[in-house]
Order: sequence, then C-alpha cells, then structure tokens
Amino acid sequence: PRIAVFASGLGSNFQALVDAFQAEPARYGCDIMLLICDKPQANVVKRAEAAGVPAACFTPKAYSSREQYEKDVLLKLREERIDWIVLAGYMRLITPVLLSAYGGRMLNIHPSLLPAFPGLNAVKQAFDYGVRVTGVTVHLVDEGMDTGAILAQRVVFVEEQDTEEMLAARIHAAEHELYPAAVADVVAGKLSPSRA
Ligand code: GRF
Repeated sequence: PRIAVFASGLGSNFQALVDAFQAEPARYGCDIMLLICDKPQANVVKRAEAAGVPAACFTPKAYSSREQYEKDVLLKLREERIDWIVLAGYMRLITPVLLSAYGGRMLNIHPSLLPAFPGLNAVKQAFDYGVRVTGVTVHLVDEGMDTGAILAQRVVFVEEQDTEEMLAARIHAAEHELYPAAVADVVAGKLSPSRA
C-alpha cells in the first residue's frame, strides 16, 4: 500500500516509520510515498529530503477555509494514488473533506492511553496528574481531537524518579516501536478496532 505521512514538527515518528519500512520491506509491506506538511519550516521536511521521500508543503493560512486547504491536499493524495494516511505529529483536526475520502484509512498516534489525556501536551498532562501508568495509543482518525476508535496501545510506567523529560523520552521510544508495527498490521487487515 502507498502511504502518505502527515506531520507538522520534529518528525521522529516519521523517521521511525521510514526506517522500519525501508529496513524490512518484506515484513512491513508499506511504502511511504509522500510527506504532507503544513509547516514548510518544520524539521520533518529535512528528514524527508534526507530519506528521499517527496514532501508536499501547504500553507493553511493561504486558504479561505480548512476545507479548501484539504481539497488541495486531497488532489495531491489522488495524484500520488495514496491508499492510507498516517498522521505523525500533525497538529490539525481533519475535516469531512479528507474523512469522506479516507475515513477508516487514516491513523494517528497519541502519547497517552486514550481516552485519558487527549489534546496537546499529553505527556505533561499525565505527568502533572500523577498517574503511575501511561502510554501510547494508535487510533483511527475521526473529526474529533484524539477520539477515533482505538487500534493498539502500549503501556509505559511512570517511575518514582522520573522527570517529565525522562517520561517523554520513554513514551517516544514506545511510539517509535509501536507505530510501524501497528500501521503495517492495520494496512494488512490484521488489526482492526475492537469497537465499531
Ligand atoms: C508524538 O508524541 C505523537 O504522539 C504526537 O505528536 C508527537 C510528534 O512527535 N501526535 P514527532 O514529530 O514524531 O517527533
């Protein structure tokens, strides 16, 4: 399957996906054909260049609405015959324009055990709350913020001596391990949400 990754930032998950899929093509069977980025200055664009993945940058502010912006993105996805969308630190909500074309074929990863701590700064939210257990969640994307049906989760324990940074580092490591495997399983039809 032909995959487009959407990202806005550092791109460590983009990198983990590219590295895994390139290292073991037979195991994963996924090809990242395109990076869609809404922030032309983002570090992830440099990573795409280095990895030889074409990057398409869009400037949402140049459009009259989120829908118009997504229509342009959709044209690009169609042009590249993209089958699946994988969000990796893409800091925007998705509208019905993309959902009607890719609903059920769009995944996201979130750094908490959803439905706990959705939205921004999830690691800090969990750390400040004082939970003993947190983790990462891969889910289908719907119109809400981190509300889509859950596909896979991985637990990360909060240790006594943890700082927020230490916890964040273990959570990111868990993301980098879980996401390539979960994407490959979902795309292969081996993993589907436990609720309809
Ligand atoms: C990750 O923690 C991901 O779960 C969240 O945004 C962060 C992106 O980090 N959605 P990176 O850009 O992949 O390094």
